[in-house]
Amino acid sequence: MTAPADSRHGPTGARNASVAPSLTEAEIRTLGEAARLAPSIHNSQPWRLTRLADGIGVFEDLARSLPVIDPSGRDRLISCGAAVLNARVALRALGYTPEIALLPEPAEPSLIGTVRAVAERPASDDDDAMHRMIPERRTHRRVYRSHAVAEEDLLDLRQAVSAEGARLSVADSASRRSLADLLRRAVRNQAADPELRDEVERWVRRGGHGYVDGIPSSALGTSPFPVDSLVHGGHRGAPEAGAVEEELARSTVLIISTREDSRHDWVVAGMALERLLLTATVKGLVANFTNQALQDPTVRPELTETLGIWGEPQVLLRVGRPLVEAPASPRRPLDDLFEPGTI
Ligand SMILES: Cc1cc2nc3c(=O)[nH]c(=O)nc-3n(C[C@H](O)[C@H](O)[C@H](O)COP(=O)(O)O)c2cc1C
Repeated sequence: MTAPADSRHGPTGARNASVAPSLTEAEIRTLGEAARLAPSIHNSQPWRLTRLADGIGVFEDLARSLPVIDPSGRDRLISCGAAVLNARVALRALGYTPEIALLPEPAEPSLIGTVRAVAERPASDDDDAMHRMIPERRTHRRVYRSHAVAEEDLLDLRQAVSAEGARLSVADSASRRSLADLLRRAVRNQAADPELRDEVERWVRRGGHGYVDGIPSSALGTSPFPVDSLVHGGHRGAPEAGAVEEELARSTVLIISTREDSRHDWVVAGMALERLLLTATVKGLVANFTNQALQDPTVRPELTETLGIWGEPQVLLRVGRPLVEAPASPRRPLDDLFEPGTI
């Protein structure tokens, strides 16, 4: 697929700027490490990685799917898109110009994206800052000090999303009551579905150590907002309408949407999501997913209408400033992610 490594170097072994660089094993591992830390639906980490001479390939791992809550694979591809974005951020921080190809091989649909170095280019301070945020970012399901987000920060979040080809909308106060109703309905529907609750429960890790995936119960948090987080076995059921509306009144609710609703759009949404989350982390902001309304096929179309958003909604988030720290969730070891050899 790629030229042998020696054709990419000059006679002294120095990199030749006119041909695509080849990466060292340490550099490839840096990309893999970044991809590994991406957020994913219920921390399922639904990806496998391949080494390329000049980058990595990210494959979806169907063995790690959640067929009840995510029958189309939308959230799985959003997760893989976030992993692609992280690898690209790492490649920039290593001093390369990255080139991304999404779903590049129709004959190999599980190849979600390749991230390759095409030239050398020193990393900027912003590139370094984004890279440093990869291990710092986490889904924050604990108490927030404030859900207010400055206009200037919102503008940067918007730009982060649109730079990836998606759109960011902010739910306005006029839609609050209908949004509260839809969130409650989605939570009620999920709580009433024993198959769904069972599936989620299989990804919640209660007690014990040594897990490499799933959501530790410590990370499920203490958010006072009962439609956040997920509907698991111990969920308290549909929250009271007034409480949800009140909490929404204090919240900044963000929606990432894409033009269409194809697999390509889902990957784009994942890249936009992770770029938004890393940008937010640089600013000391954190986020939580309020995704149930999008996972419910009976609620999702109404949500689009209620919020009056452009295109197809892919991710629903609440952002703000944390009061306390949130714990990190585990990840699978890097060596388990890489396929053997280079392609
Ligand atoms: C597409 C997608 C959907 C998600 N949906 C939810 C959700 O409905 N509820 C929730 O609490 N977290 C959700 N998450 C967050 C994941 O649970 C989280 O990323 C994972 O547990 C890893 O933890 P971390 O983000 O702190 O690294 C979602 C993440 C992604 C990428």
